[in-house]
Amino acid sequence: MRLGIISALAEEQHGLIEAFEGPYKHIHGMREYTTGKLWEIDAVCVLSRIGKVAAAMTAAILVEKFGVTHIVFTGVAGSGDKNVKVGDIVVAEALVQHDFDASPLFPQFEIPLTGLSRFATDVALTERLANAAAKTTRVHRGLIASGDKFIGKLAQIQAIKAELPDLLAVEMEGAAVAQVCFELGIPFAVIRTISDNANDDAAVDFMHFIKTVASRYAFEVIHNFCHPDNPGGQV
Ligand code: ADE
Repeated sequence: MRLGIISALAEEQHGLIEAFEGPYKHIHGMREYTTGKLWEIDAVCVLSRIGKVAAAMTAAILVEKFGVTHIVFTGVAGSGDKNVKVGDIVVAEALVQHDFDASPLFPQFEIPLTGLSRFATDVALTERLANAAAKTTRVHRGLIASGDKFIGKLAQIQAIKAELPDLLAVEMEGAAVAQVCFELGIPFAVIRTISDNANDDAAVDFMHFIKTVASRYAFEVIHNFCHPDNPGGQV
């Protein structure tokens, strides 16, 4: 296993870089890739930058240039359900691009020529990640939607929820990574800590959360994930 770990923001990944044994930094395409050992696992850590294109490029380069065999995306998200609270974790079982609509040529949300609107995460990797997260906070599993829009108005999240009733969280990268991994045949998983309620308070809550807790969550989850005594064992 060579594990690629992606986050969108530096705050979402702080601490991980310092935990590397024998880190080696490579600059490529405006990103810094750190390779080395992370708690016995051969790993590559990188910030994707924000949005679907940035995340897709990062995932493709991790696979094609750095040879990763598995990808995990860690970060924060807005809540997409009243039972999903700030501080909870959502582990994706499937991801959809909520702003993708090639209708009437294709059904809304469907990615042309894949026949899919939802991309399923890898079952084993998702199980292992959910086990790792459960040691940290309350964990939900289900649908995450991504789009090139920060959702910061109640009307926006309500409109997305009306179209995707089983939605648990919204963010800006996961479904792009999911599509790239699907097309390249790479097992992947996505974990998001809820930073805000994707409503009119979202921007303020988000800024506060990423400054205070986001990095601790990512660090703890990845640490538990990599640790050999994590139930689910090595992938
Ligand atoms: N990431 C964290 N909160 C978000 C929100 N409200 N919309 C999109 N991405 C987010």
